[in-house]
Amino acid sequence: MTREIAKDHHTDTFAQGRAACAATLRSAVHTMPPTIRHIAGYHFGWWDRDGRPEQHAGGKALRPAFVLAATTLTGGDVADAGNAAAAVELVHNFSLLHDDVMDRDTTRRHRPTAWAVFGVGPAILAGDALASQAFALLTATADGKAAAAAELLDRAVLELVEGQCADLSFEGRRDVTVTECLAMTDRKTGALFGCAAELGGLFGAAGPGELLRLREIGRLVGRAFQHVDDLLGIWGDVHSTGKPVYSDLRRRKKSLPVVFALNSGTAEGAALAALYHREQPLDDAELLTAADLVEAAGGRAWSREQAAELCAGARSMIAELARDPAAGAELDRLAALAADRTW
Ligand code: IPE
Ligand code: IPE
Ligand code: MG
Ligand code: MG
Repeated sequence: MTREIAKDHHTDTFAQGRAACAATLRSAVHTMPPTIRHIAGYHFGWWDRDGRPEQHAGGKALRPAFVLAATTLTGGDVADAGNAAAAVELVHNFSLLHDDVMDRDTTRRHRPTAWAVFGVGPAILAGDALASQAFALLTATADGKAAAAAELLDRAVLELVEGQCADLSFEGRRDVTVTECLAMTDRKTGALFGCAAELGGLFGAAGPGELLRLREIGRLVGRAFQHVDDLLGIWGDVHSTGKPVYSDLRRRKKSLPVVFALNSGTAEGAALAALYHREQPLDDAELLTAADLVEAAGGRAWSREQAAELCAGARSMIAELARDPAAGAELDRLAALAADRTW
């Protein structure tokens, strides 16, 4: 019941992004070899584990919506940016397939993760195939912008991968600073949002200065988005997010609010460090305690404030950049949502 409400909510909110790239995504997946196609279709929520059609809550499709909204902001035609929007969503989903393996997460989008159903190797290969299809889509854009677009996406993937490497390496460290954690976030999540906005401008009518500003807007939004993601991972409602709470804490992930708390210099931060840095697994009561300590040490409030500030910064840049308020309205709405979402 709650899941159905959440699904409808997604559909309404991101209808444009979903509709604009749904057919392109499907045909990109359909050209894959059958085994991989099956895993990708399951991951997108189109088919069940046996390959039977199913209507499941897929992703929010925020990034393709972002591409198209950036195109509109520059006075371009969204029809020209459909492949770029789908390419960004493919890269995002490639990163999720791999991320769930890395994070050992067994639930995403209200369902068992692809690796939990099909095995680690096949899920990794499905991710690889999505990444490859993303570049194939950009190459197929016939208006002379393919090379520039592929270069932007390539740079974002390299940054994302670097950010994911940092995220993993932080798991085994006790001395991660807030600055390091912010840099990691900017790479693992900010880079693809920045790329989404810039690609939107590239296939729109943006000049070089506008492209740089769009990239900055995307990066601000991406960082805000990750703050909220980390908050929802501790205090979110599983019925809305489709992801279990406490999985980050259980794995002692160095998420943003946690790293702030660990570096807060407070008694609660020290108590959290004692729990976080011990060998044995945390039981359910200790996970609750860890969440309370993150909050008492100021991590929850900090991430909320940071998300709000980043989002406000992005929105004021959008207002400056938009040729008229109507052109920037959709990008503004999406930027606001990134910092103020419950799913
Ligand atoms: C999850 O992204 C990964 C992060 C960068 C935090 P989304 O929350 O956009 O994932 P879907 O596509 O909507 O499931
Ligand atoms: C987000 O990873 C970044 C990428 C997937 C590249 P997280 O591990 O923080 O996101 P969720 O919470 O699993 O979606
Ligand atoms: Mg994860
Ligand atoms: Mg991760």
